[in-house]
Order: sequence, then structure tokens, then C-alpha cells
Amino acid sequence: MSTVIKPVLQPRPMTEADLPAVMAIETRAYPVPWTLGIMRDCLRIGYHCWVYEQGSALIGYAILSTSMDVGEAHILNLCVRPESQGAGMGRQMLEHMLDVVRHSGCHLILLEARPSNPVAVQLYRSIGFEQIGRRKRYYPTPTGREDALVFALDISSLY
Ligand SMILES: CC(C)(COP(=O)(O)OP(=O)(O)OC[C@H]1O[C@@H](n2cnc3c(N)ncnc32)[C@H](O)[C@@H]1OP(=O)(O)O)[C@@H](O)C(=O)NCCC(=O)NCCS
Repeated sequence: MSTVIKPVLQPRPMTEADLPAVMAIETRAYPVPWTLGIMRDCLRIGYHCWVYEQGSALIGYAILSTSMDVGEAHILNLCVRPESQGAGMGRQMLEHMLDVVRHSGCHLILLEARPSNPVAVQLYRSIGFEQIGRRKRYYPTPTGREDALVFALDISSLY
């Protein structure tokens, strides 16, 4: 019997100094990436912005907003660098985000995914997210627009 040991990612809060490395991943990972301005705004607004490292290598990042008045959190970005995808990193990062949400006191977590992104959709469903809606023509694509699938998870159902 063999045991597969998955490398553990170290999360830390994202800073302005991380933005060049974050943008280098963002522009490779998405067909329509966020701009540097959007990333910078997320930091300035005070969203929960995290980077995930293995040694000195930046493997991915995640961005989350929380609305304490309604008790809802929203995952705005979850991204693994292309050469590290499919190795369990996205799942580790999402589980860390769920911990952040739990400690924030929010009870519901929302996110959107593209129907054309089966890896993300499968990851979210495997954690327990359920589709609660569809936003028509929500995402830009290189050639037009694409719907968004809206997913929700009641955080208390996990613990
Ligand atoms: C989506 C993303 C975050 C997933 O992270 P990842 O590290 O590649 O995925 P993981 O290796 O952790 O796999 C998590 C789950 O995704 C699913 N998955 C992974 N690779 C898959 C593939 N090639 N086909 C179908 N499902 C797949 C599986 O359910 C897997 O769980 P399992 O390994 O226990 O079966 C990552 O691929 C990514 O950053 N993509 C580009 C940016 C993006 O699309 N972000 C999401 C926006 S909504």
C-alpha cells in the first residue's frame, strides 16, 4: 500500500507587494482576467484577500467579501496557478476560505461559476455547494457573454 502525501499550502494575507505575482497567475488562468485595478480595489476595500504558498512559490490566491449585516460571504476569486492545478490545491484553498467564513460569523457562502468551467463546478458541488440560480449573460468571454451559475452553501451544514 502506498501513501500519497499532498503538499500543504501556507495561507497568508495578500499585500500590495503580491500583486505582480498574483496578476501573472490571473492573466494565465482566466480567459478574461481581472485587471490590476480590480485586484488593488479588493485590497483597498478590505476584502479577505489571501495568497497560498509552498515554500517561496505563490501557488494561488482567493478573495472573499463578507456582509455581516446579512451574515453572507461571497467568494469572488479562487485561483490556482495553471501548472499546479489538478493536484488538490484548489480544494485546500477553498477549505481554508470556509474556515475564514466560519470565523467571520457568516452563515451563508455564495459564489458564481461559469458553466464552461466543469472543474470549478465539480469542486464546489463536492464540498456541498448547491446551485440556487443562474445569472444571464453575467460573465464576459473573449467573444461575448456567458451565464453564471450561482451556488450557495450553509456553512453550519459542514460542522
Ligand atoms: C478551479 C480551480 C480553483 C480548482 O483547483 P485545482 O487545484 O485545479 O483542483 P483540485 O485539484 O483541488 O481538485 C478539486 C476537485 O475539482 C474537481 N476536478 C479537478 N480536476 C478536474 C478535472 N480535470 N475534471 C473534472 N473535475 C476536476 C474534482 O472534483 C476535484 O476533487 P477530487 O480530486 O477530490 O476528485 C483551479 O483549477 C483554477 O484555479 N482554475 C482557473 C481559475 C478558475 O477557474 N477559478 C474558479 C473560478 S469560479
